[in-house]
Amino acid sequence: MAPFPLVLSCLFGTAADNNAEEAGGARRSGDNETGKAGILGLRELRWSQLSDREVMMPVVLGSRPEHGFDQPLGLLSDCHRRIERFLGVLQVIRGQAGDGELNERQRSAVQTALEYFRTAAPRHTADEEESLFPLLRASGDPRARSAIQIVQELEHEHDSANIAHAEVDSLYTQWMTLGHISVDQRRQLSALLEQLRNMYRRHIDVEDQQVFPLAGEVLRPEQLAELGKQMARRRGIEYPMNG
Ligand SMILES: [Fe+2]
Ligand SMILES: [Fe+2]
Repeated sequence: MAPFPLVLSCLFGTAADNNAEEAGGARRSGDNETGKAGILGLRELRWSQLSDREVMMPVVLGSRPEHGFDQPLGLLSDCHRRIERFLGVLQVIRGQAGDGELNERQRSAVQTALEYFRTAAPRHTADEEESLFPLLRASGDPRARSAIQIVQELEHEHDSANIAHAEVDSLYTQWMTLGHISVDQRRQLSALLEQLRNMYRRHIDVEDQQVFPLAGEVLRPEQLAELGKQMARRRGIEYPMNG
C-alpha cells in the first residue's frame, strides 16, 4: 500500500466543539508526542504506519488547535489532516467489516465520519472556493496568475469529490440501516473510497505544497486577516480565536 499522509491534529474548541469538523483530528491530552503513543500530535505521519486500531481512536473534544483563525493558511492545512483521518476511518471499517454487519463501535465511527463529510468538509471547500481562491484570482501578482489554472482544477476536483462522497454516504447509510449491502455495492464502496483517497492525496498535496505557500507570499497581511475572519464567520466563531 502506498504511504498516505495522515496527521491527526487540531481542534478549535469552545463554540466549535459540537462541530464534527472541529472534533476531527483532535490531539489526545496526555499523549507523548514523540512516541507512537503520541501519534495524534505528530506531523508527517504516514497512513501505512498506523494500525487499524489507531485510525479508529476516538476523537476527543476540547483539544487545542495548531493554528488559529489568525493563521488561516495553516488552519486550512489542519483541515486537510481531518479529511485524511475521516476518510481513513471509512476505509479501515470497510476493510474490517467484510460482508457482515457493522458493530456498534464501527457504526459510531462511520456516522461521525459521514457527518464530517456532510457538514464540516463543505465549509473547508467554501473556505477555498469562496474566500481564498477569489483573493488569489483578484491578486495582481504575476505569481498568482500562474495559479489560476491550478485553482480551476481544484474546483473541479471538489465537484467530483462531492459526488463520490454522496455515493459513499448512501452506501454506508444503507449498510447501517439494512445491516447489509450486496457484493457489488461493497465493491463499489471500496472503489469509491480508493478513488477519493487517490484524489485527495494529489489535491491536498497541491494545496499544501503549492497553493497555500503561494497565497502566503502574494496576499497582503490584511487580506490574510480577512480570509481568517471569513473562515471564523462561516463557523459562527468570533475572530480571532486563539485560546
Ligand atoms: Fe480543495
Ligand atoms: Fe483543501
